[in-house]
Amino acid sequence: MTRGDWRTPKAPSRPALSQAAWSKILDKREARLAMAQTENQTGSQSQNAGFSGSMAFILAASGSAVGLGNIWKFPYVTGENGGGAFVLFYLMCILALGAPLMFAEIFIGKRGKAGPVDSFKNLGTKAAARAHPVGYIFILTAFVALSVYGVIGGWAVYYTSLALDNGFDGMTPEAASGTFGTLMDDFATMVLFQILFMAAITYVVAKGVSTGIERYTTILMPLFFMMLLGLTAYALTTSGAGMRSVSFMFNPDFTKLTPSAMAEALGHAFFSLSLGVGGMLVYGQYMPSSPSATPITRSVATIVVVDTLVALCAGLLIFSVIFGHGGEAAGGPGLLFMSLPVAFGEMTGGYYVAVLWFALVVVAALTSGISYLEIIVAHADRLGMGRAKAAVSLGVAITSVGFATVWSLGPGKDVIIFAGKNLFDTLDFFAFGVSLPLGGLVIAITVGWAVRREEYRAYLSELGEGTFNKVVFLTKYVTPVLIIMIMAYLIKTS
Ligand code: PHE
Repeated sequence: MTRGDWRTPKAPSRPALSQAAWSKILDKREARLAMAQTENQTGSQSQNAGFSGSMAFILAASGSAVGLGNIWKFPYVTGENGGGAFVLFYLMCILALGAPLMFAEIFIGKRGKAGPVDSFKNLGTKAAARAHPVGYIFILTAFVALSVYGVIGGWAVYYTSLALDNGFDGMTPEAASGTFGTLMDDFATMVLFQILFMAAITYVVAKGVSTGIERYTTILMPLFFMMLLGLTAYALTTSGAGMRSVSFMFNPDFTKLTPSAMAEALGHAFFSLSLGVGGMLVYGQYMPSSPSATPITRSVATIVVVDTLVALCAGLLIFSVIFGHGGEAAGGPGLLFMSLPVAFGEMTGGYYVAVLWFALVVVAALTSGISYLEIIVAHADRLGMGRAKAAVSLGVAITSVGFATVWSLGPGKDVIIFAGKNLFDTLDFFAFGVSLPLGGLVIAITVGWAVRREEYRAYLSELGEGTFNKVVFLTKYVTPVLIIMIMAYLIKTS
């Protein structure tokens, strides 16, 4: 007799439904929901209610994920934290925490279909509905984050114009830091380029989901990938430092992996994948309706791989260019804006590389900025404000708050707001350091503990039983514990 023979089977609390039966029930519910939504909307809005297919979703969501985080921040935090070991730990965070959390966040959007706040109320259980106030934190964070993101996006536009003007030709390191420093102190120029950047984002979001976000991201993202691959190949083969750059990025030296580097890696994984602030939730809500129509699993796999590859390519590109021209890896936030221009100014074909590179940064920043704004507009639209009006008024409000950020980088640099930090660092601390992990924590707990397991299973039906159980385990236990540890560390050391 084997052990299983005498074990009493557990009585199911309600008749167990097969996987297929669940999918069918959910498909019907989704169809009803979609119909009700379409009926509630007037002509132009209803055409705009969602993405046309899974490819559009994947491109838009990749557009959200791939941003300044990948090409500006990832290389410089990798440089500051010693390279290989940091990269390896970051990859682990992406796999163990990022991917499961992205399943959960997209699930909330796709199942809830009602913006960053109300989607929580449609998850089928009272406990999950109780998490809805976190949606307001998402909105606030997206607002603040975009007010900063828009400023940095503006720098990228400004540098594109410099590159077009052949402004990096023969540039010395001193001249490069002079140019950046002058920009920081030049309120009017910074504001002007920030306004240009924000206007583009506002325009696309005002146009709607399919006729705005989908249309532009499906053009911009393929273009972005082509430019990035071309440039990376060029840099690796011509800089003379390709191998050094590869070894810097992938040869781990674990003595350099400090607790603060680990906290940074985790926070950055969230930021880079647009998690914990409702970015994936809101795009998830525009996915084609039924659980089986656009499988979450395949989309998540694609987005995660694309986002990671882009970050790695950007790192390889930047380090090979910088090492090839005698620069240092630990250049900090100025790596992109101070060290690269010098290298571009020296290299063969540097004019074209510089123009392409900064255009690439602008594209990446635009598609992410669009997603930030959409988080807020999705909610405002639900409140009956109308998409175009919501986009424009929010765009203006966020840009105006961004002026304060601009001020805090120049004249207000030394004005302390909180815990020894100026306004820029304070916003950075709350928007990225506290609020993203907190958002991720609530999402993980909601989906891990408060949503019916069979239902989540139906949305992730492509995963095998074992993998699904692992994803749930990570979501329920590992993610919350790690996030709490990281938050405690960040708060203690801030
Ligand atoms: N993921 C984006 C980046 O890497 C930032 C972002 C976060 C955009 C959340 C939208 C929402 O730059």
